[in-house]
Amino acid sequence: MRLYQVLPVLAALMGASLAEAKEVFAHYMLGNVASFSQADWEKDIQLAQDSGIDGFALNMAADAEALATNWPSAEKAFKAAEAKNFKLFFSFDYLGGGIPWTAADVTKYTNNWKGSPAYFKRDNRPLVSTFEGVDNRNDWTQIKADTQAFFMPDYSSLGAEVAAAAPGVDGLFSWDAWPKGASDKSDEVDNYYISQLKGKPYMMPVSPWFFTNLPNYDKNRLWRGDDLWYDRWQQVMEVKPDYVEIITWNDFGESHYIGPLDSRQYGAFRGGNAPYNYVEGLSHDGWRLFLPYLIKQYKTGSASINKEGLMAWYRTQPGKACATGGTAGNANYEPHMEPYDVVQDNIFFSALLNSDADYTVSVNGTNIELPQQKWRNTPGGGSGIYHASVPYHGHRGPVVVTISRNGQQVAQVKGGSITDACNGHPENWNAWVGSDPVVGTPGSGTNPTTPPTTTTAAPPPPSTTTATPPPSNDRPCVAGTGEGNYSGLCRYACGYNYCPPEVCRCTRRATNAVSAPPTTGQKGYPAVGVKDHCSYLGLCSYAWDHGYVDNTAACGPDPAGAEGC
Ligand SMILES: *[C@@H]1O[C@H](CO)[C@@H](O)[C@H](O)[C@H]1NC(C)=O
Ligand SMILES: *[C@@H]1O[C@H](CO)[C@@H](O)[C@H](O)[C@H]1NC(C)=O
Repeated sequence: MRLYQVLPVLAALMGASLAEAKEVFAHYMLGNVASFSQADWEKDIQLAQDSGIDGFALNMAADAEALATNWPSAEKAFKAAEAKNFKLFFSFDYLGGGIPWTAADVTKYTNNWKGSPAYFKRDNRPLVSTFEGVDNRNDWTQIKADTQAFFMPDYSSLGAEVAAAAPGVDGLFSWDAWPKGASDKSDEVDNYYISQLKGKPYMMPVSPWFFTNLPNYDKNRLWRGDDLWYDRWQQVMEVKPDYVEIITWNDFGESHYIGPLDSRQYGAFRGGNAPYNYVEGLSHDGWRLFLPYLIKQYKTGSASINKEGLMAWYRTQPGKACATGGTAGNANYEPHMEPYDVVQDNIFFSALLNSDADYTVSVNGTNIELPQQKWRNTPGGGSGIYHASVPYHGHRGPVVVTISRNGQQVAQVKGGSITDACNGHPENWNAWVGSDPVVGTPGSGTNPTTPPTTTTAAPPPPSTTTATPPPSNDRPCVAGTGEGNYSGLCRYACGYNYCPPEVCRCTRRATNAVSAPPTTGQKGYPAVGVKDHCSYLGLCSYAWDHGYVDNTAACGPDPAGAEGC
């Protein structure tokens, strides 16, 4: 046989898939859109398709509140995706909303929707992903047997080497999309994943930003965004991963959304007890401007420029203008830094150009002095994406970035005002983003062609904060946490309004309680010998009776564990 005849046979024998096409997905928070109609879904899908995105990775949590809405939301999502010839796959979130997924529920969801033409397949198997879930990794041998899933989890907490060796792994997605500290992101981790995967597919994460301040979810941190949206797409061209997953389409709580602003999706600010809504007025639609070009380049190696354009982004408050709000630079497992030491007070911009061009950046009508090296990055061959940033130092007021060639204006973004005003809020570390041509629809955020006044560019007035009161104790608890051995139990039981305050902390309340799964009659007691055993008595009894028995460090079947309580 000649080589070209052998190859397909070999590929089939090895289960490899030499001909699988590259795809670009966006991480999508299903829990945000319980109120969506099928038409709402189709709108989002259309916007994603306009950007060249092939599908959404549907992030679903397993806490009681999420479980009540995931299923009907998935039904609408799949109907919409089928109508629009778009792809979806499940990304089971084992940490996000509370308790881990059970194997039975993962199997139920996957088997119910894998037959849909909209469910994304690899090697004719439904691709299934996760956010973490490393404690449940042994579930997957059985889940795969029951679903035929093509399993590409994100097990970033394990590192690539251990993750690649986990049971049933067919490929990996990484959550390592942001740099640590005051540095830019490299593609070192991506290349390490590829080396550890030894030919299995890699899904590379690409994100523009990260800022979250949700104290009730124990999240208040910032990673450097800055040049990231430019850098990561260039790294995609070098790394050439099998898949790209954009983080995210609509995670407003972490500020890395590229989909439209939507006031129906701001539950995280209430539940997380955010000091204020830090996304209002800060549309990120402009970040989608070059996606069709970039995705084509990633998939085919080249792309042509239909129209030259410009996108610009920056924080409207200098890093030291306002109180930090306790926001840490880096995550709590990384060295602590002040947030203003992690990010740069620069105006960042990328231009898609047929050939080199000049730029000016003005603040309040005064041109900023430009760096010595005009562009930070230029495309090979002269046509493609150019990128630069300029520090704005003491300049305050509305920003205008202009690209011109031979004295002719090519593109211009007029942006939100740089301001020291804090309006009684801590610093907003989220980004103002604009583009020319304008991306997005009216009403989906700040119109970048009109320089916003200080009031519209600045964080929303205090009335927004007072309209979202902290959890009030007389409403039923729908989510909670606890320390150490209480963690899983509290996450489970608080979801159903059983949240003993001595050991658990309710983090989210709602108008209506979520009804608990039916009682099973299974008796659970504190595990024999566990410290402060009586403090587990009620939780173990409640959890085991409702079928949550996944906590043998703290609970067990032996009544002796309850002695003396
Ligand atoms: C912008 O310039 C105007 C006129 O020169 C000046 O009155 C105003 O204070 C400036 N705004 C800021 C924010 O510096
Ligand atoms: C959790 O349970 C284990 C097993 O009973 C015990 O060794 C450990 O000390 C407990 N941890 C805490 C924080 O109570």
